[in-house]
Amino acid sequence: MKIDQRVHNFSAGPSALPTEVMREMQENLLNFQGSGMSVMEMSHRGDHFMTIIEEARTRIRRLYGLDETWEVLFVHGGASLQFAMVPMNFIGQDQCADYIETGIWSTKAIKEARIQGKGVHIAATSEQDGFTQIPETFDFQEDAPFVHITTNNTVRGTQWHNLPDTNGTPLIADMSSDILSRPIDLSRFGVIYAGAQKNMGPSGVAVVLLRKEMLDRIPENLPTLLSYRTYAEKESMFNTPATFPIYAISLVTKWLEETMGGLDMMAAINARKAKSLYDAIDADWFYEGTAHAKDRSLMNVTFRLARQELEPLFVSEALKAGLSGLKGHKSVGGIRASIYNAASEEAVEALIDFMDHFKNRHR
Ligand SMILES: Cc1ncc(COP(=O)(O)O)c(C=O)c1O
Repeated sequence: MKIDQRVHNFSAGPSALPTEVMREMQENLLNFQGSGMSVMEMSHRGDHFMTIIEEARTRIRRLYGLDETWEVLFVHGGASLQFAMVPMNFIGQDQCADYIETGIWSTKAIKEARIQGKGVHIAATSEQDGFTQIPETFDFQEDAPFVHITTNNTVRGTQWHNLPDTNGTPLIADMSSDILSRPIDLSRFGVIYAGAQKNMGPSGVAVVLLRKEMLDRIPENLPTLLSYRTYAEKESMFNTPATFPIYAISLVTKWLEETMGGLDMMAAINARKAKSLYDAIDADWFYEGTAHAKDRSLMNVTFRLARQELEPLFVSEALKAGLSGLKGHKSVGGIRASIYNAASEEAVEALIDFMDHFKNRHR
């Protein structure tokens, strides 16, 4: 393989980044804009990095149309730390929050709230269906501080296409695997969080969008770095932030705005990619989608081969054909093609071609 040759990367996370972004990082790796040093090597309080973090924040704001009532925060620890911070910051002493359980990541979020002895009420679960669909009926409490959802379920390949009616209770969402993939109705949310490593950049940071009025609910006695207030007051710079991942986010969001044309355009491309892949799966009996059709994810396309014994061969032959990362999550098996923003239409076409050839050879 040539030194700059790249595979079509369908990995669920960390995942493909746009090649243009990788090249820009490469070009600036040794000497960022005449500074004589890499972004990795410079002070986070210097002018160069202050401009980078401001650009990342501003571009996220513009992409989602966030006004001054929202904070954009960069927090260490990935999405899993958010599972713990959300209840720590937003479930008060005598309160009980609503959680909707739609897959292993929401189960983990629930577990982190319970570990802290916080009140948790499961307003709906699709566990009985092996998390292959999004629930349609909910048992919401009247006075819950929030309703927690996972907007896209990376493992099973389901996604919320319509938000639940929570009767005014704010949603808090784990959007790790579909952040910045489509426009959203922000009026419904109090907090949105996402690990960067699927749609925004390398791992090492979570992006948190937080409605400012939520800050008033945070107790005073939290450890400094576990309080969202610290990140809001110190502009995510209380201590050294994940500088290089934030730099990558600034470039990915620039690519989203300037090359892809914003979230409406990105959403249309994502819908097209997913449709052609699901059409290939549904074409006949050889492949079988695993999620209920109504809730299929546009980001993680999960399927099985009717002859499941062929799946290891499918994955290994795909890899030889330059298609990487197709093995399903270890908890469920099967095949998963993660087609986040940076997976090109060309990559999806290459996968569909491979699927057709494989089918013709093995049916
Ligand atoms: C929906 C979802 N939430 C949370 C996580 C965990 O993210 P992290 O590894 O950043 O803690 C993942 C990782 O795959 C995910 O898909």
